[in-house]
Amino acid sequence: MSTDKPKGAHTRLVHTGRPKHQYHADLVNPAIERASTILFERAADLYAHKPDQRFYGRMGTATQTALCDAIADLEGAAGMVLTPSGLAACTMALQVVCKTGGHLLVSDSVYGPTRGFLDEVLAKTGIKIEYFDPRAGAALKRQLRDNTCAIFLESPGSLTLEINDLPAIAKMARSRGITTLIDNTWGAGWFLKPLALGIDYSIQAATKYHTGHSDVLMGAIAARDETSAKRMADYARLGGITVSPDDAYLVLRGMRTMGVRLERQEQSALSIAKWFRGRDEVEQVLHPALPEHPDHALWQRDFSGSSGLFSIILKPVPTKKVYAFLDRLELFGLGFSWGGFESLAIHCDPQIRRTANPWTAAGPLVRFSIGLEDVDDLIADIEAGLEELD
Ligand SMILES: Cc1ncc(COP(=O)(O)O)c(C=O)c1O
Repeated sequence: MSTDKPKGAHTRLVHTGRPKHQYHADLVNPAIERASTILFERAADLYAHKPDQRFYGRMGTATQTALCDAIADLEGAAGMVLTPSGLAACTMALQVVCKTGGHLLVSDSVYGPTRGFLDEVLAKTGIKIEYFDPRAGAALKRQLRDNTCAIFLESPGSLTLEINDLPAIAKMARSRGITTLIDNTWGAGWFLKPLALGIDYSIQAATKYHTGHSDVLMGAIAARDETSAKRMADYARLGGITVSPDDAYLVLRGMRTMGVRLERQEQSALSIAKWFRGRDEVEQVLHPALPEHPDHALWQRDFSGSSGLFSIILKPVPTKKVYAFLDRLELFGLGFSWGGFESLAIHCDPQIRRTANPWTAAGPLVRFSIGLEDVDDLIADIEAGLEELD
């Protein structure tokens, strides 16, 4: 970049991850370099491990490196590892930081499949898993043990939208040598910079906002410092964790427009969330950017904005009425995942699993991922759907 003046976030998103050293350096986007074998000039070079010598396709080509550079810049990371899905990023990072005999603390609102891995796989390797109230903040100190190895956060939780107090938790963990990790998919590295708040690893399901088009699965683990980055990179290298250059290309292409997509999705989601506040069918709107949200002050302190994902709790109605409401929607797809250009809605109660503080809402929880459609059309669609609740 031309001057030393710090560049704006949108400018950085356009200009990072465009390596000058690639073969096709005149292309705007990095070429898709597909390779398993990488050839060496001389036999003596094969085992010389020179820093600039590419080694084997599993460690990535310029295409994956370009994506790593872009995500690292976004997160303010010292190093990056890409994984084949967002879930794989969570599970790999957890395997790296947990030791047999150790104790792991996990925010109770964590993504269900991450919880499934913890309870059904990691717990069987001699790691004690304990869930905590997502709103515990500094009170989490009471749950720390001598053998606590890591604290896994997700903020906000992607169904119930509680915010973790990241600086308080990072501070208490750091003073005891405990590793902190966060599933930062909601903030996308755009609205939340956990590494700057003292968290060791920021994890993305890049499947969502980075990709933006609901057609690629990808995960990313961004590390705060070189030592933490090396821990993840060593595991990925030894374990053969890799992603295809084609997928890396698509994710990087999606990222170029992530900022503008997110800012539009933010505004549309806020408009719809505010509209829901005035509806008789709705008990509560779960959106941290609304002043009445219990964690609004934390959100305001730590986040620079809000993404397109939020939930509502309906007043109690039979499940078949919730199905009728969702089935009536024409512009919202019914499907898992989120963060794409198209709007989605799901009812979430079958997914909510809590052990630290049971979920006590009387009515059903419905989650919306707001896309790029015109907001008035989305509201009209929801308004028609709500007639099914009468
Ligand atoms: C909060 C959160 N983390 C991680 C994931 C997993 O991402 P992926 O679908 O890429 O495995 C998801 C997917 O829905 C998610 O919502």
